[in-house]
Amino acid sequence: MAGLAIVGAQWGDEGKGKVTDLLAQRAAMIVRFQGGNNAGHTIVRGGETFKFHLVPSGILHPGKKCVIGNGVVVNPSVLTAEIEELRRRGIDPGGLRISANAHLIMPYHMLLDHAGEVRLGKLQIGTTRRGIGPCYADKAARLGIRMQDLLDEKILRQKIYAAMEPKRQTLRPFAKDPALDLHTMTEDYRTLGHRLEPYIADTTRLTWEALDRDELVVFEGAQGTLLDIDHGTYPFVTSSNPVAGAACVGAGVGPRDIDDVWGIAKAYVTRVGAGPFPSELDDDIGARMRTVGGEFGTTTGRARRTGWIDLVALRYAARLNGMSGMVVTKLDVLTGIHPLSVAVRYLGPEGASFDEYPYHQSILHKASADYVEMPGWDEDISAARRLDDLPDAARDYLAFVSDFLGVPIVMVGVGPGREQMIWTEAAERYAGAAPLVAPGELP
Ligand code: IMP
Repeated sequence: MAGLAIVGAQWGDEGKGKVTDLLAQRAAMIVRFQGGNNAGHTIVRGGETFKFHLVPSGILHPGKKCVIGNGVVVNPSVLTAEIEELRRRGIDPGGLRISANAHLIMPYHMLLDHAGEVRLGKLQIGTTRRGIGPCYADKAARLGIRMQDLLDEKILRQKIYAAMEPKRQTLRPFAKDPALDLHTMTEDYRTLGHRLEPYIADTTRLTWEALDRDELVVFEGAQGTLLDIDHGTYPFVTSSNPVAGAACVGAGVGPRDIDDVWGIAKAYVTRVGAGPFPSELDDDIGARMRTVGGEFGTTTGRARRTGWIDLVALRYAARLNGMSGMVVTKLDVLTGIHPLSVAVRYLGPEGASFDEYPYHQSILHKASADYVEMPGWDEDISAARRLDDLPDAARDYLAFVSDFLGVPIVMVGVGPGREQMIWTEAAERYAGAAPLVAPGELP
């Protein structure tokens, strides 16, 4: 069996989609296990740009099973639109499977997300307003509507009624919104249900069967470790668990089914939305990272906050995920910056210093990063395909990160294109379940 989990090691947007897409060439199945259409990734293929929010990254590869697991929250109209878009562009979505147990984002979830943020005013989280938090809240309250409910009109209507009833007070300002009419909502969701029915399945069994056949299954995380509702910078987090452990729950496999965990981290850091960010840059270098790295959200278009790589946070992420390998993306964005700073500890008030990620929010919110400086490089690294092609300074930078974390670097991104990736020996040795693509073979 070979299960490989790909997870975000920072605050999301690390480039998981591209890595998953590359690994998908050899995988039989790609499974998303949490989050919803708050995520977004862009894949450039043959000069064409594809943007997905829900469909797993592997969908562009013919013959792959692409699973939306039970842990994902699905907005059925967004999913239907993505399926239609794929068809329109000549891509067969026939490999898509959606867990019958996945929860549905309903119109009232989006309104509640919006209203919640407005109510918080200056304290708002900066959510994507896609209804993610309220949908997971209903799941936990056992008031959620699931994919399988779309297949029975009577059940669907009853459940929508039961879910909306306790929210009547909060939804009062939207009382006239036609999307909240019980009849209309039931009809609309039934229509979407008809379209999605061919894809609804018991995905836990399909995943188990693939693992049992010894095929490579890639579990594709969304968001990142520091946005994890349990381990992230609460309350400035998403409402699911982006850590690797959640792949088991959100896909319905056991811990022993996951053989490898690769954490994806940018060579610097970005964050969207509010919350602490000790290595944040509010200067020309930060602005340069944003421009050169194209750091604007795929989902909301918001400008991302930028900062130096933070090894205190990354070591925390390595531990929480049990990372066996690390993929560093966008190394090319650092080209021409001198010197480079790397956060190795946090400083608090009155001379306090923290080597470990502080568990107390009051400390974290006031912490500033303490750095070591490293020389930068000016050479264009976008054509590097092996570590030896990189200038010494870039190799030293990667070696410092890897030594600090105690995790081998398995891949390095040097540009936006599919082929602009260094596969290290550690990646080529990976699991042995499926031969990885040699640099020259990448299409
Ligand atoms: P929510 O997931 O929409 O509830 O948003 C909660 C927090 O997670 C906000 O700070 C969002 O900006 C952030 N967030 C959610 N999804 C992503 C993502 O895919 N990338 C980066 N940040 C995200």
